[in-house]
Amino acid sequence: MKMTRRALLGAAITIGFAAAAGHTSLALADKPLTIGFSQVGAESEWRTANTVSIKDAAKQAGVNLKFADAQQKQENQVKAIRSFIAQKVDVIAFSPVVESGWDTVLREAKAAKIPVILTDRAVNVSDKSLYVTFIGSDFVEEGRRAARWLLERAKTLPAGDINIVELQGTVGSAPAIDRKSGFEQEIKANPNLKIIRSQTGDFTRAKGKEVMEAFLKADGKKINVLYAHNDDMAIGAIQAIEEAGLKPGKDILVISIDGVKGAFEAMMAGKLNVTVECSPLLGPQLMSIARDVKAGKPVPKRITTEEGVFPAEVAAKEFPNRKY
Ligand code: AHR
Repeated sequence: MKMTRRALLGAAITIGFAAAAGHTSLALADKPLTIGFSQVGAESEWRTANTVSIKDAAKQAGVNLKFADAQQKQENQVKAIRSFIAQKVDVIAFSPVVESGWDTVLREAKAAKIPVILTDRAVNVSDKSLYVTFIGSDFVEEGRRAARWLLERAKTLPAGDINIVELQGTVGSAPAIDRKSGFEQEIKANPNLKIIRSQTGDFTRAKGKEVMEAFLKADGKKINVLYAHNDDMAIGAIQAIEEAGLKPGKDILVISIDGVKGAFEAMMAGKLNVTVECSPLLGPQLMSIARDVKAGKPVPKRITTEEGVFPAEVAAKEFPNRKY
């Protein structure tokens, strides 16, 4: 269809007005921002909520999102990042499955002049200029918060040893490393608190149940407390505790991290004692930081998510407010 000169002039004026009014989503004046995002996988309720948050926020912001699910494998994330580089995306964002082993691929992104934003989990690289910023929780503090709840609760327990079993997250991942260290630092304040077993449950319900079964077989009634690095593993372990004829939340205190709806349901059923919040709702922040980065604006190197602690006593009241 041919346009008359008058129609062409009209269209040009409309575009000009839209741009001046800041209607960037019209995408007539601006090319949409393209972000390549590599997600860890779909191992937990938390992760599913995180994926939804990122996809929804991209849609709302008019961002062209190239999403890749790594199925918990670092090699898949490296492949995805290389493919984003080849596609010349504007920004690469990813939640690294493990902390180390990123130097080479991040150097490739830097050489291609594509800025990298870390979300949720950190990387361990010697050159911090390989990424622009890291948006996510303070996992060490989450571990400390879990321990502080236990230190308080321990004051009400009979004198003597308090035996803890720990379900760790994915081996080598930032949340597993940091939640372990934060918890260990803090429980030193009470020498009766003893971690008698600690093993990975890979952040999944199935693995959490399986490992808890093994803990129960080995130590049974000696176990007083379960500390799980995420709610999913705690929920799996709760099943194992019940199948062993014990009462989770009473015979064995259950402490976990994330604050997903499943944890609130378990607390309302009296089976989980406390969950330390870790927010997966990082999508809107990621989109706005990515825009700033692309526009060359300075951004903070670390953006820490604000979070709370939810003991079972407040679960019923808080449940209707939960977004994930
Ligand atoms: O990195 C965040 C952690 O990863 C969440 O605690 C856990 O549920 C997820 O799988």
